Amino acid sequence: AIDFKTTMASVEFPSIFLNASGVNCMTVAEMDEMINAACTGGVVTKSATPQQREGNPQPRYYQLEHGSINSMGLPNAGFPYYLDYVTREHAKPTILSVAGLQMSDNIELLHKIQASEYTGLTELNLSCPNVIGKPQVAYDFEETDALLAEIFSFYTKPLGVKLPPYFDLVHFDQMAAILNKYPLTHINTVNSVGNGLWIDIDTEKVVIKPKQGFGGLGGAMILPTALANVRAFRQRLNPSIKIIGTGGVTSGKDVFMHLLCGADMVSVGTALLHEGVGIFQRLTDELATIMAEKGYTSIEDFRGKVQDF
Ligand code: DOR
Repeated sequence: AIDFKTTMASVEFPSIFLNASGVNCMTVAEMDEMINAACTGGVVTKSATPQQREGNPQPRYYQLEHGSINSMGLPNAGFPYYLDYVTREHAKPTILSVAGLQMSDNIELLHKIQASEYTGLTELNLSCPNVIGKPQVAYDFEETDALLAEIFSFYTKPLGVKLPPYFDLVHFDQMAAILNKYPLTHINTVNSVGNGLWIDIDTEKVVIKPKQGFGGLGGAMILPTALANVRAFRQRLNPSIKIIGTGGVTSGKDVFMHLLCGADMVSVGTALLHEGVGIFQRLTDELATIMAEKGYTSIEDFRGKVQDF
């Protein structure tokens, strides 16, 4: 059998697969289910805000033909709940996702993690498109640089960032130059494609209630954008910064493409929500079949080796 173990920031994951933050990770029961499922590498928590939040009004998630649109608005059980969870012993590693609603929150959350017993990975979500009145932090390059400078003036534990998708090659250059200044363990790319819109033509209404229907897109329709972001960052980031590829994965083929673009791990959101944790066994089997057909025995045989035309 092929070995899908992988190491990020000296943390050993038994598989390359994770949930995309937000899916199957709100409660202890859901996080335990991710850890106990076959072929998962561990669990990423729902992005924790300092206090518990109900999130945006319903309906706030809608399944589209080729993906999903959401404007959840960071409903979560609050930072202490997730810190408590990740600080306990688990059979697989955890990644603590945190999201400040303002810059001072981000600093405060990271001070609390720094002061805590937790020694595992943390991921700072700089890319939530759905908090009413709040911008996606990582679209503001100066703000992101200043925030990371402040964080790394005191923070010494393993830290990565969750990024929104970028669509311009100069933006990849600019963001990578910023990220390369800091001892980040990883980036997770991409968060949902922010502020899409869908309409039900029978009712002539938008399909989700918050923000007049504008919401983050996920699922199969965003795979090309996710692949572009993984590849563009792999070409530009220091090799010490690992990449979690997120976006559009529904099959082993999609996983194979993320890995060819240079992803170290791969996470699944929309398709996990629709299929449940059994998806990780299926993706593993499909990936193993592709690799066997090509004569590959390890991910290292092809990771990051996508060829130009
Ligand atoms: O698509 C997203 N939805 N990305 C986030 O970062 C947060 C989430 C939400 O709760 O709205």
